[in-house]
Amino acid sequence: MKQSENRLYLQAVTYVLCHTDATRRHLMRRVKLESGVPFRFHNRPVIGPQCVTVTIQIRDEDLKTVLTLGDRLAMASGSPFARVYRDLALVRVEFTLPRGRWREVHLSQLPHRASSATIGQKALGPVARVDWHNPHKSIFGATRSGKTTCLANFILSLARTHQPGEYQFLILNPKNDITFQPFARLAHLAAPLANNYEDSANLLRFALAEMERRRQDNERCRQRWVVVVDEVSQLTQINPETGPMLTQLSQMAGGLNINLLVASQAANPSVFGDKGSLAKANFPSRIVFQLPREQAYLATGLEGQHTEKLGGDGDGLAIVNGRTTRFRAALPEERDYETLPRSAQEPTPPDQDQLAGDCLVDEWQIDPDRLAYALVIKNSATALRSQFGGGTAKAMLVRDYSQLLKQRIRYWRQLREGA
Ligand SMILES: Nc1ncnc2c1ncn2[C@@H]1O[C@H](COP(=O)(O)OP(=O)(O)O)[C@@H](O)[C@H]1O
Ligand SMILES: [Mg+2]
Repeated sequence: MKQSENRLYLQAVTYVLCHTDATRRHLMRRVKLESGVPFRFHNRPVIGPQCVTVTIQIRDEDLKTVLTLGDRLAMASGSPFARVYRDLALVRVEFTLPRGRWREVHLSQLPHRASSATIGQKALGPVARVDWHNPHKSIFGATRSGKTTCLANFILSLARTHQPGEYQFLILNPKNDITFQPFARLAHLAAPLANNYEDSANLLRFALAEMERRRQDNERCRQRWVVVVDEVSQLTQINPETGPMLTQLSQMAGGLNINLLVASQAANPSVFGDKGSLAKANFPSRIVFQLPREQAYLATGLEGQHTEKLGGDGDGLAIVNGRTTRFRAALPEERDYETLPRSAQEPTPPDQDQLAGDCLVDEWQIDPDRLAYALVIKNSATALRSQFGGGTAKAMLVRDYSQLLKQRIRYWRQLREGA
């Protein structure tokens, strides 16, 4: 980009801040400053794939005023959308570039590291990386905003930096998106691609059974499994038994080195099935692409995120521990697929006896410690519901049943001791 265009954004910031009335409380009077908001530019503007970020230093008392200036800054510069945010002691003004000046990002141009997946480029840095510090990831975005492409980036980057012995994927592609077809012979597949709803449900059973195997055998935990699920809300709607399976995996699989990576068009908790809020709580790290305004809070978990202003085509926000980073996802190219390690044949599908049976995918997720806590310490249906979700009727039934069980145990113990 030409230096003169950069100057346009610097001028816009200067113009708006100099013409903004910043008022300052001075004893009990409000004193108007003649020169608008005092500020200083910090370093040079950073040119990202879809935006230019100008960094300024201001006085802390002006922060509130400056944070409201996004629309004026956008208008003064002719930018479709300007986001103003605080970054430690600095304020950043992120101008979205007009669509014609966006730059595509490609994985082959970016550095890759074994500890994380490289999925694109940040607005403020050379590369957008995602690690497994939070075990599960969710991706939200409207149709054609770039979710499936982003899932492909994850797979491509991780397969590039890891041997099949270290990493295995399950790919659930219930809507049969052709984006996943190049992965059919990926050497890192633990099972064939699931290209319909039924096979997708079976792969979740397979993942649950693997979770059980890992509980028995710690050695298995060395290999990481990544369960990639596209269109998760459609899957749980069409196949309701998948909701509880996802909840169970999200609650318990992370510690056993099985990670979920799910994408969904809708962001309300019910995308994860009827106990969705419980599952959603286990996805603190999210990627959000363009999404209608009313979904912004549901998807990001944060106020004031204008997801409707994102430009589509992989323009996204990465949210980790409440911090938002704008980035542009990479667009995979022919050569990214050429370097994929492939196997001669498709992996063998899991046998029926390798799938978790219905007892495992029951509606109740039983962690013995949590169950004991709810029944012994709290002894209430409310506690059961807060630990395991589900309806009141079922929770009361379990509570009553446990009381009955306690009575019977006491009775039989007395009988034995008396005998
Ligand atoms: N990171 C990206 N860079 C450029 N174009 C993209 C990017 N991601 C998606 N697109 C464009 O958007 C289209 C839809 O992307 P896709 O990932 O299938 O969206 P979704 O899964 O959200 O419906 C792609 O075919 C591509 O043309
Ligand atoms: Mg898609």
